[in-house]
Amino acid sequence: MGNGAPSSGVRVPRADAERVRASLDAAGCLDRAWRPVVDGGHLVWPVHGGVSLPADVDGERIDVAPETWSAAPPPIDPHHRLREAVERWLLTHIQADRERQEALLNDVPKRWERLNDLVLLPNDAFASPLWKEALSASERPPWAEIAAALRAERLGQQAHIASDVIRSSNATMLLGASGDVEVTDHGVVFRFDATQQMYSSGNVTERHRMGNLDLRGETVVDAFSGIGYYTLPMLVRGGAEHVHACDINPDAAAWLLKGAQANGVEHRLTQHVGDNRTTLPALQGVADRVVLGLLPTSEHAWEDAVRCLKPGGGWLHVHMNVEEERIEAWAEETAARLGGSIGHLERVKWYAPRIRHVVLDVHVSRGI
Ligand SMILES: C[S@@+](CC[C@H](N)C(=O)[O-])C[C@H]1O[C@@H](n2cnc3c(N)ncnc32)[C@H](O)[C@@H]1O
Repeated sequence: MGNGAPSSGVRVPRADAERVRASLDAAGCLDRAWRPVVDGGHLVWPVHGGVSLPADVDGERIDVAPETWSAAPPPIDPHHRLREAVERWLLTHIQADRERQEALLNDVPKRWERLNDLVLLPNDAFASPLWKEALSASERPPWAEIAAALRAERLGQQAHIASDVIRSSNATMLLGASGDVEVTDHGVVFRFDATQQMYSSGNVTERHRMGNLDLRGETVVDAFSGIGYYTLPMLVRGGAEHVHACDINPDAAAWLLKGAQANGVEHRLTQHVGDNRTTLPALQGVADRVVLGLLPTSEHAWEDAVRCLKPGGGWLHVHMNVEEERIEAWAEETAARLGGSIGHLERVKWYAPRIRHVVLDVHVSRGI
């Protein structure tokens, strides 16, 4: 039976068919990859080989030639598809009793991040002792099945965010060699290597907010530009006249240039690669606004950022991780320290329990 179809089924009168299907399914006996066969006034449900039927199933177990079955349409919900793909892999690759299979199945990831044709699983996926044991006992892991179930070509797994300045390793590839991706969000194309750079979906509201600003005629300094999370929306959607993008990581800078080229805005971008303690002082008095997008804090660059503003002043977008109960006080203190007034306070996302990533828009009416 080369197509994996079952060799037996449970034959029940149609009137009992739904009740029996539910029992078989709850007990993990139903092979959902196949449609039931109609046999006069009876239905025959496909069941997995080698499993004993639950006691409340009163249908008759019969032999069925594998070619009798036709494949069921794939379920629409990706969580179901993932679970079923892993279940089929378990049945063919792992010698495990039903209880262990259920435990493994209950530990299948419930969320993931899609970057075009690449899906990134969270760092704790398939990392339990039970899964580690199952994977080391199998001749090959279920990555191809998982990618197919999630309609992806490539599969990766997020690493714990490195605590180094440039946030070096971000993910490892499980299926597919390259982590290069091109993602379009609100009409803006971002390009990066997902194994190296982080593309935080949690920052999406802030990316959109920066892109919604009317920046026509403005010069912007992005002090921590990365692959262009804010630089590209400001150029493409905000229509900024020019963005000076600073970053210490040459790889991130190279990807930002590729992103700018993909959007056709590279002629309005100047890149300054190096520590912004050195690059910002060379940009004194040029900017209508400065973006300070580094977590947990961008504090070391605040003074230089104020000096980047034009003599008539401008805006600072200060990112910071702040304890929930300190947010209002922090905003007041920060605006005062920068010699400006609060224009807006954006709560972007929870960074950790009780700690929020916030962005404070400070208007400084006179540059230094
Ligand atoms: C990952 S981005 C942060 C983007 C966004 N705010 C977020 O949290 O997703 C931070 C960028 O700042 C750069 N960076 C860190 N310290 C820097 C410094 N002293 N000078 C210039 N760039 C720096 C890193 O290389 C990195 O690309």
